[in-house]
Amino acid sequence: MLAIIGGTGLTQLDNLTITHRKVVRTPYGEASGALTFGNINGHEVIFLARHGYGHTIPPHRVNYLANIWALREHDATHIVSIASVGGIHPDLLPGTLAVPHQIIDYTHGRKNTYFDGAGLPVTHIDFTEPYSEEIRQNIMRACESAHEPYINQGVYACTQGPRLETAAEINRLERDGATMVGMTGMPEAVLARELGLRYAAIGVVINHAAGRGTSKIAIHGEEIQTTLNASMGRVRNVIAHLVAL
Ligand code: HPA
Repeated sequence: MLAIIGGTGLTQLDNLTITHRKVVRTPYGEASGALTFGNINGHEVIFLARHGYGHTIPPHRVNYLANIWALREHDATHIVSIASVGGIHPDLLPGTLAVPHQIIDYTHGRKNTYFDGAGLPVTHIDFTEPYSEEIRQNIMRACESAHEPYINQGVYACTQGPRLETAAEINRLERDGATMVGMTGMPEAVLARELGLRYAAIGVVINHAAGRGTSKIAIHGEEIQTTLNASMGRVRNVIAHLVAL
């Protein structure tokens, strides 16, 4: 079953017919909110709002371990993550949808593994390709059938937040090869891998990264709201096609 983790701007799916909600406790604590079960055009999905349904949990406080565990416990087999990002590469203008193929993790201090505890074997999971190529291809096919343009690759830099980056930090991320920047891609992606769930993301560019646009960045201000609403409308359209694949 497909699970969708919604990020900033996507705390609910309008096209989801909800059957029930469930508060889930896990060995790692509570997930960001109740899991929402339902279907889109008759296809079953589970939805979870990463930052809580009222958007109150900042990126560094999201309980990623509980979220992924809860989804796996409820029979999710694959996850599509919706992640707002700042665009670093000039092609990634606000409003662009991009399907990243690589990640660079700049976070610190986050719990980032299930293989942590007395008596657990030392485990080094393979993460050469952090995203499931199969799910990436499905996302791109869905974009095509939804007639939504997309960029078929990208390197997602995950910063710690919650502050935005400095212009010099963005220059450094670009030199490292990053094309987009967000705050939630890690450890979400690696935890999904550790539990054997296929995982890929849709990067929704909602702003120019620091120092790239003309004005200061306000990722929650009014000026961003129009881009965000329009982009999330497109994401919902893509999801409606994705569930049917
Ligand atoms: N930086 C980090 N995370 C983000 C940004 C950004 O510019 N935009 C949306 N999420």
